Amino acid sequence: MNVIGIETSCDETAASVVVDGKKMLSNVIASSVDQHKIYGGVVPELAARNHIQTIIPVIEASLGQANFNWKDIDAIAVTYGPGLSGCLLIGVMTARTLALAKNLPLYGVDHVMGHMYANFITSTPLKNYVLPKVQPKFPILALIVSGGHSQLVLFKNHFDYQLLGQTKDDAIGEAFDKVAKIIGLPYPGGPNIAKLALDGDDQKYSLPKSKMESEFDFSFSGIKTAVLRLSQEIIGEDYRFPSHKVPKRLILSQKADIAASFQRVAIETVVDKALLAFNLYSPKTFVIAGGVASNEELRKQVHQKFPIKTIFIDPKLCTDNGAMIASLGYYQATHNIRLADPLNLSIEPNLSM
Ligand code: KG4
Ligand code: ZN
Repeated sequence: MNVIGIETSCDETAASVVVDGKKMLSNVIASSVDQHKIYGGVVPELAARNHIQTIIPVIEASLGQANFNWKDIDAIAVTYGPGLSGCLLIGVMTARTLALAKNLPLYGVDHVMGHMYANFITSTPLKNYVLPKVQPKFPILALIVSGGHSQLVLFKNHFDYQLLGQTKDDAIGEAFDKVAKIIGLPYPGGPNIAKLALDGDDQKYSLPKSKMESEFDFSFSGIKTAVLRLSQEIIGEDYRFPSHKVPKRLILSQKADIAASFQRVAIETVVDKALLAFNLYSPKTFVIAGGVASNEELRKQVHQKFPIKTIFIDPKLCTDNGAMIASLGYYQATHNIRLADPLNLSIEPNLSM
């Protein structure tokens, strides 16, 4: 079954053709990230306008890369939430129109669950992808860490899952982005923090880990504020000193030490909770997913701490893409889940698992 997956929940316009949920024939992504850089974060209207301009060329390119015509496609899967309303609307309206015009079944896909299904892609004729050889086996413990979400989910089977914990405030990727801003690194902060951290001492500063009522929940707003206070202290100022003036007063080695110390503690927080859940539930497989799953420190800590070998997905499939949506769309189609009416599928910006 050939499914085209369409993704527009944030600043990536993406489309991909995947066969039977596992063979990725194309993966086309157009990002508007460069246009958001000067604002220090994604501007929803700007992202939506870019989706309008790029969605048709991206879909056509994904068919072209797969050497497919519309007649080769069996179903359309589209992210309908969670995400930015204006952005989701472009993807959903386009998918609805195409489903009607091409007379194809349409599936509304949960973006966060979709991240997990990037782990189900095991082959591709495309160059430069390192993929797992086999699909993960249930029960699967998934650590889904992105710019909008941080959650631990136990999948007993497809669509039979238990949400063990989630963030009560900021997502971990959001914390990376905000800490990057505090020390003057450009958006998106995650990759830039990770790069600078390579030159820093990760033991230089101690930063707090939030204690939560439920052991599998997360909180990242405290560490972000702690980084701001630490930075103000390093430059000899107090909490009244304006945050936007902090980067100019920090020298590069101080920024590197802050980046490394923050990254170590933030990653330790999610890895240690995942390990706790792993030991409690003894799943067959542990997977990581979402933009932050491309972080090397996360991979290193998982590798060191987990008792089983964890297969890591290609970093290009960690951040937003259409392949994960197509893969989950295939499992929805084969399990009869959320077949959508192309005249009625609505966006759900606050959808949660
Ligand atoms: O999954 P994603 O592309 O979008 C959402 O669904 O949110 O994740 C984007 C997030 C951003 O916060 C970005 O800073 C973070 O993932 N990120 C990273 C890395 N690459 C991307 N965080 C830490 N280390 C990285 N290497
Ligand atoms: Zn995402």
